[in-house]
Amino acid sequence: MSVQRPGAAEFVPAGADLTGLREAAPACRGCELWEPATQVVFSAGSPTARLALVGEQPGDQEDRRGVPFVGPAGKLLQRAVAEAGIDVATTYVTNAVKHFRFTQEAPGKRRIHASPDAGHVTACRPWLSAELAVVDPEVVVCLGATAAKALLPKDFRVTKHRGQVLRLSTTKGEKTFLGTIHPSAVLRVPEADRDAAYAGLVADLRTAAAALS
Ligand code: URA
Ligand code: SF4
Repeated sequence: MSVQRPGAAEFVPAGADLTGLREAAPACRGCELWEPATQVVFSAGSPTARLALVGEQPGDQEDRRGVPFVGPAGKLLQRAVAEAGIDVATTYVTNAVKHFRFTQEAPGKRRIHASPDAGHVTACRPWLSAELAVVDPEVVVCLGATAAKALLPKDFRVTKHRGQVLRLSTTKGEKTFLGTIHPSAVLRVPEADRDAAYAGLVADLRTAAAALS
């Protein structure tokens, strides 16, 4: 069971464009994750992107810099996106949860990534819904189980359904979605299997790119 949280809805300005959303996000108190984090990490990329990439939450480096996917997983993702024939500059990059969740033994010690739970995903979803409605991409790629939890049907499993092109109804009409592994999962597999895991991510990104009209 996850804890009930107030959620971001009351902090998301109605009718705001992407700049308005970005400016409002630092004031969000929709869940408790804002407090130990350095700052909110909203999104990056093109406000008119046709392809959106949705990750889990900012990591340590993203939390420090305020920009998504600038750490090791982000570097791998950028390489995979380019290898899939997608121009990174034409993508929109964001996360299901906008504050870094971590554990830390003592102040000054290393901050260890902790996955957001279902309650954090639900609390933060108004931001994700609002930004996707404004950017209105044709194709949304969910990177890993957390993003899938935020946007894909409940029975979606990355292991089973990754790489499948899904048509789902949204407030902006029917859109294409695709779930795949998270780039940090590629970094975690034993070295002997890493090339294959990476190739799988690239293949799924290619499928997403091919689904663009
Ligand atoms: N992992 C994510 O899911 N998002 C980031 O921004 C960085 C790492
Ligand atoms: Fe708000 Fe999301 Fe941050 Fe929670 S994680 S405080 S809901 S922006």
